[in-house]
Amino acid sequence: MSPKLKDFDELMNSRFSCRAFLTKEVDQKTIDQIIETAQKVPSWCNSQPWQVILLRQETRRLLSEKLVYSADQAFETPDIDFPKRYTGVYKTRRSTCGWQLYNAVGVQKGDREGASQQMAKNYEFFGAPNVAIITTPKDLGAYGVLDCGAFITAFTLAAAAIGISSIPQAAIAGRAPIVREVLNIEEDRDVLCAISFGFADKDNPANSFRTQRADSVEFVEWA
Ligand SMILES: Cc1cc2nc3c(=O)[nH]c(=O)nc-3n(C[C@H](O)[C@H](O)[C@H](O)COP(=O)(O)O)c2cc1C
Repeated sequence: MSPKLKDFDELMNSRFSCRAFLTKEVDQKTIDQIIETAQKVPSWCNSQPWQVILLRQETRRLLSEKLVYSADQAFETPDIDFPKRYTGVYKTRRSTCGWQLYNAVGVQKGDREGASQQMAKNYEFFGAPNVAIITTPKDLGAYGVLDCGAFITAFTLAAAAIGISSIPQAAIAGRAPIVREVLNIEEDRDVLCAISFGFADKDNPANSFRTQRADSVEFVEWA
């Protein structure tokens, strides 16, 4: 393996979705560096459709308060439809990573209360001091979302490269009207997700597991 690919592979291995953070904030210069690197991803016609709303502490607190208050509301109201269903191998993978989390934090099978409490931690941004909300222009449709996805991935990798942990959170988009109201987001943009980021609480059980990836024979073919 070439040294550069090895470095990249190691960076890919070092990133994970962090679900417990220390309170220490990430400084502005570091945030700028992450964003400047992440924005180098390709996008259709170089449209760069992502808008990044960085939350000040007061805004973060207010948004979290409103999201937590809505936690009992069972139905989701995302701007972009959530997946209709997970079947077959997708269902299996979803269940595996869900159980990895539940086992790590001690939620037993059938413990609906425990599961929903863990889910509600999304609304506290898992304690992350820094949060970015990502929106995409409605007019750009699925390809705008695709471009934003590339940005989100690059953001998490750039962050990992300088020791900052992160997690993309579609759960926040499930409460899009609240996010829109608190952050004054224009009607012509869709709320895609949050990226919570900061310094990992390494001793927290929620960060004690790593997800696996399928063997490439499962998804690569020559035609
Ligand atoms: C677009 C997107 C949305 C996600 N939304 C959530 C979320 O709302 N809550 C959560 O706990 N994890 C969320 N995740 C994290 C995934 O569960 C995680 O990426 C996956 O299980 C693979 O694990 P890893 O990131 O640790 O490699 C999201 C990831 C992506 C890419």
